[in-house]
Amino acid sequence: MINIGEVAIGTPVMLSPMAGVTNPPFRQICREFGQLGAQSGNFEAPSGRTDGTYAPAGLYICEMITTRALVERIPETLNMVKPDVGDPVRSVQLYGVQPATTAAAVKILIEEDLADHIDLNFGCPVPKVTRKGGGSALPWKHDLFEEVVTAAVEASEATSKHRSHQVPVSAKFRIGIDDDHETYRDVAKIARNAGISALTLHARTTQQHYAGEADWEKIAILKECSDLPVFGNGDVFEASDAQRMMDYTGCDGVVIGRGCQGRPWIFFDIAAAQHGSTERYRPTLREVADVIVRHAQLSIEHFDDEHRALREMRKHMSWYMRGFSVGGEVRHELGLVSTLEELKQRLSKLDLDQEFPQAAQGARGRAGNPKRPHLPESWLDSHTLNEMQRAKIHEAEIGVSGG
Ligand SMILES: Cc1cc2nc3c(=O)[nH]c(=O)nc-3n(C[C@H](O)[C@H](O)[C@H](O)COP(=O)(O)O)c2cc1C
Repeated sequence: MINIGEVAIGTPVMLSPMAGVTNPPFRQICREFGQLGAQSGNFEAPSGRTDGTYAPAGLYICEMITTRALVERIPETLNMVKPDVGDPVRSVQLYGVQPATTAAAVKILIEEDLADHIDLNFGCPVPKVTRKGGGSALPWKHDLFEEVVTAAVEASEATSKHRSHQVPVSAKFRIGIDDDHETYRDVAKIARNAGISALTLHARTTQQHYAGEADWEKIAILKECSDLPVFGNGDVFEASDAQRMMDYTGCDGVVIGRGCQGRPWIFFDIAAAQHGSTERYRPTLREVADVIVRHAQLSIEHFDDEHRALREMRKHMSWYMRGFSVGGEVRHELGLVSTLEELKQRLSKLDLDQEFPQAAQGARGRAGNPKRPHLPESWLDSHTLNEMQRAKIHEAEIGVSGG
């Protein structure tokens, strides 16, 4: 059992937010697999704890929400934070660059009972964000980082008074800007002093983007130098990787990003392994098709728009099919379906008795190439914002969508 503030996590795993991927329907599917996996092992869920302080199968974090969009009550954003009624601990990730807006967003989430745990994201490597000093560029500015995390924690403390427990705030960040400009140890200290309850390290630099290998050694160092729970993130594609990461780094839990794309049952495998079961979920194509249909049904309910829901399903469909022997044309057609009926029909024409293929295992998702970090002018000269940088920092929240 790992504690993030007053929230206890019964299985040391989290679904990492991925913009456009980890929406409520997909999260529900991941969580259900996690629950089944935990039950397949020696896991006994203590009953009666339904106050948002106990997550038996891990945390399934919401897609990143920008604080400004939440404060401005943009309808699409409000739809993204719509509580998932079946989720025992509703976890929302916020991205903010301004302390006051971050505090206001935290206040909304807690006062309106939309979250039981809040994660702050400082990991986005996208040039249009880092160029303005946001995302993974922000931790370089220790003063701004401290102001944002402090504002979030203080807002949580103040607003949680109306609830049975304080909503804990965690922080997710990268190693640093590049190998010569690491930030993770400094910001871990700042975060701890500000009252942050747990840390997630995506063990890459901004420069690496998603390329190369995550440097798990840094997770081990962070675990050694911080007394907060440390969650390791980067390159966990199988339950065996999760165990390897925990053994190698001593981290308290693992955070799964690309490894669940088209393979939400990775949470079954990890939860099963963590609770002593050797059972692993290796679906036939028929079972994968069942997951796809359920995913589509949940998406239709969520978006309340069949065409939109099936459009959102497109990328998932190609991920689900990966490694199975399905012709290019069929794959393409599956991506074009616009109704549930059409989807079911197309799926029924596949050779559904295929076993889960070897080729569907291992690394997946976008990797790309390292990219020179784009930063505001003279950003690296000091760990403190100058006046000009402070005046412009709000721009780092415009047009952001995950990363
Ligand atoms: C398409 C995509 C979108 C992402 N969006 C977010 C995001 O909104 N918030 C976040 O913290 N990380 C985001 N990430 C990073 C992942 O959550 C994760 O930290 C990263 O992929 C490394 O973990 P992995 O090796 O398990 O994939 C995104 C990654 C991808 C590939």
